[in-house]
Amino acid sequence: MTRHIISIGDFDRRQIDRLLDNAKRIDAQKYDKNALTGKILATLFFEPSTRTRMSFEAAMARFGGTSISVGSVEACSIAKGETLADTIRVVSGYADAIVIRHPKEGAARLAAQFASVPVINAGDGAGQHPSQTLLDLYTIRQSMKLDGINVALIGDLRYGRTAHSLASALSLYHVHLHTVSPKGLELPASLHADLEEKGMEITGYDNIKDLIGNVDVIYMTRIQRERFPDSASYFNVASSYRITPELLKDAKKQAIVLHPLPRVDEIDPRVDLLPHAKYFEQSKNGVPVRMAMLLQVLQ
Ligand code: NCD
Repeated sequence: MTRHIISIGDFDRRQIDRLLDNAKRIDAQKYDKNALTGKILATLFFEPSTRTRMSFEAAMARFGGTSISVGSVEACSIAKGETLADTIRVVSGYADAIVIRHPKEGAARLAAQFASVPVINAGDGAGQHPSQTLLDLYTIRQSMKLDGINVALIGDLRYGRTAHSLASALSLYHVHLHTVSPKGLELPASLHADLEEKGMEITGYDNIKDLIGNVDVIYMTRIQRERFPDSASYFNVASSYRITPELLKDAKKQAIVLHPLPRVDEIDPRVDLLPHAKYFEQSKNGVPVRMAMLLQVLQ
């Protein structure tokens, strides 16, 4: 296995399970607080981020390590026309690992080719978001076994990188996928074919109410406005699906609602008060899971 983490496909099932077990031990405070003392993590975020960046930085700090960054893209030499390859070569000289988020699909893979230190993909355009998937799996595992469950993926499955990574990972666990998305925002055909080839059962629906009684996990996603060619095409599909307490009346009692966040209007705030709502716990789980990832690449 490479020391880079670019796609969830870089992991097999055994490696995912082991990482989640490590995260659980860390969550129970069973870790060396100085495990990464003296190590430096560079966070290179060319797109907005709250959770991913802050939880990687918090994870580093919990192990006694340090994080450095350029602040904003406008403030660094990319604004002067420097290539990503050169930036990565330079940053490799300053840090022991690099976490990168970039609007272009494939950017993290490219960065890994030029880096002399491990690279972690924190989201490449509409591509992949492996650290999010690992914390999604961790959160599901807190409520139920991953094997044999029914998972609903709802929203922007075309541009949503969290949906892509999660669907791929779930194909390792005999999960039945149930999808609802606005027209034109279905899972990419190549990913759909790939998942079916791996034996995953995928059923598409027009409405949330048609699947709500059948699923154990309801994974909501934001329509990825920044990936649309213009605002008219975004507003055509905006606000198509919303999970509400009324819809959840028909859900299984133990069903959980997840969302990578930020949410726009796809989860009614009244859902926050229901026991189904696990999305804030999910974001909190970013810290132990990313701590386990940092140990894997830095130790
Ligand atoms: C997601 C992302 O950046 O892909 N955010 C996150 O990392 N939690 C989801 C999103 O922006 O919709």
